[in-house]
Amino acid sequence: MTDYSQDHFNELYSEGERDPWKYFESEYEQQKYDRTLRWALDRKEPEAVTDILELGCGNGAFTEKLVSAFPNADILGVDISEEALDKARNAAPEADFICGDMFEVIQGLERKYDLIFASECLYYLTDMYTIQEFRDFVDLATNLLSNGYLLSANIHREPSEENSVEDRETMAILQTTLETSFDIVGQNTYTEKKRTEGRTREYEYQIWAFE
Ligand SMILES: C[S@@+](CC[C@H](N)C(=O)[O-])C[C@H]1O[C@@H](n2cnc3c(N)ncnc32)[C@H](O)[C@@H]1O
Repeated sequence: MTDYSQDHFNELYSEGERDPWKYFESEYEQQKYDRTLRWALDRKEPEAVTDILELGCGNGAFTEKLVSAFPNADILGVDISEEALDKARNAAPEADFICGDMFEVIQGLERKYDLIFASECLYYLTDMYTIQEFRDFVDLATNLLSNGYLLSANIHREPSEENSVEDRETMAILQTTLETSFDIVGQNTYTEKKRTEGRTREYEYQIWAFE
């Protein structure tokens, strides 16, 4: 089973790859970002948004969209991989970034956020932490929101596929735990084609909105 450590992610981003998951070029990924963004833009006046936190921001493919969409916002991206953040700083020089485990980093944050985004990253915490610890993380995250939303997009794979943290069972645990502290105010499922490793397959993902 994969060990989702800092070394694992640093290695992924450092293999001469700016974009190991093809976030900048994949239509599937771009569509997912646009949908997540649209959900927030339909509910928050973009000019009135002043503070955004992006957990597991990776190489900044979504961060650069946040910078354009919310002209008055201070945007903070957090990622465990310094290699990823090197790329994110290029993609979104206007944003600030902190390198570290998001659970640890959020314990030191003093601001309140209008929007928190967590795209394709929360499930890694279920590998690093116990369910109780994940609950504590969720509790802390609720305290960071000020009259705002947490938006999370996550792939849902069949359990037979090798990447077990992204399977349906893990996602159900993730959602249930998030719902112990947040209220779910939006949920949509999308099934779309994505081209990876030379072949096109259908993938399912969900976008969740919590307040
Ligand atoms: C699949 S990528 C998603 C990147 C980005 N959110 C996006 O959708 O474009 C997952 C990211 O989460 C980061 N990550 C994984 N575990 C983390 C943790 N405990 N704390 C902070 N970042 C983490 C990884 O380094 C990686 O950049």
